[in-house]
Amino acid sequence: MTIRAVVKGTGHYLPERVVPNSHFEETLDTTDEWIQSRSGIQRRHFAAEGEGTADLAAHAARAALTDAGLQPNDIDAIVVATSTPDLTFPSCATMVQEQLGMTRGFAYDVQAVCAGFVFALTNANGLILSGQAKRVMVIGAETFSRLMDWSDRGTCVLFGDGAGALILEAVEGEGTPADRGILATDLNSDGRYRDILYVDGGTSTGTTGFLRMQGKEVFRHAVEKLAQTANAALDKAGLGSADVDWIVPHQANLRIIKGTAQKMQLPLDRVIITVQDHGNTSAASIPLALSVGKAQGDIKEGDLVVTEAIGGGLAWGAVVLRW
Ligand code: UT7
Repeated sequence: MTIRAVVKGTGHYLPERVVPNSHFEETLDTTDEWIQSRSGIQRRHFAAEGEGTADLAAHAARAALTDAGLQPNDIDAIVVATSTPDLTFPSCATMVQEQLGMTRGFAYDVQAVCAGFVFALTNANGLILSGQAKRVMVIGAETFSRLMDWSDRGTCVLFGDGAGALILEAVEGEGTPADRGILATDLNSDGRYRDILYVDGGTSTGTTGFLRMQGKEVFRHAVEKLAQTANAALDKAGLGSADVDWIVPHQANLRIIKGTAQKMQLPLDRVIITVQDHGNTSAASIPLALSVGKAQGDIKEGDLVVTEAIGGGLAWGAVVLRW
């Protein structure tokens, strides 16, 4: 008997305020044409004043519970991937626990920036395989608008706010790649690249700080490392590119998404793409794309899904799962 962590429900939430590229033409030396041609982004959502990361996460969590037909106290653990917690502590996850009225189990955050959801999924899979939890809510939630230097046109036009959630449940499988659930994971990091993508604040400065990025350098690493980690995870699962129904990539840049699909020899019609509507929502981008992909009828039960992401650290990885 093999235990598998199987997806039971998904949900997402986007703040009400939609900000089109034209918004930035008013204050910066930029154009809608530049933003679209360099990144594929057309619009993004920004959280309202007083609306926090935990609020977005709780909305997404409620939607996932409804989708799964479950109540908050049916969940054993909440793992939130975020680099924009509302406070240094308590964790965003315990705030979500409180907002849901969940009075049992445990909750904590993981932080691997834009790769956060892949790390959180791997972590939740470990909780299920080790018998620590039978049902885990995995959430990616971010308010990156609060880390933007609005005078830096190279970064502030790229990011957005949002949250996505996925409920995993322990289910008995056969131990073959035909099983539903998480089949393989691949995680990597390399701290030597800390200076190409970071936030210049924290306890060392006493400020929240602003996101700083050498875009071209990050781009170069992304194209090289994403196909590599996705193929490594597929290999661990005993599968190959030809078995993949859907790539659900981190949504940072349409050119990176296209480049990775090309390296994996997969056509674009097998890729869930939401970057045009959401911008880069860091750890929230994959669960948002999974939830949107399922809601629009693309991702169906039995489909082989590969998620892959890279972000600050650098940290990168991939998860192969059968929906
Ligand atoms: O999610 C975490 C991982 N993050 C990523 O994956 C992001 C990776 N990087 C990227 O997506 C791309 O590198 C960017 C979209 C950030 C930039 O695209 P690029 O093709 O690498 O452009 P670039 O940085 O080489 O900039 C080209 C030019 C520069 O001007 P010069 O120096 O050639 O005169 C920039 O100053 O574009 C200029 N530029 C802009 N122009 C108009 C930079 N930002 C803007 C802007 N509007 N908003």
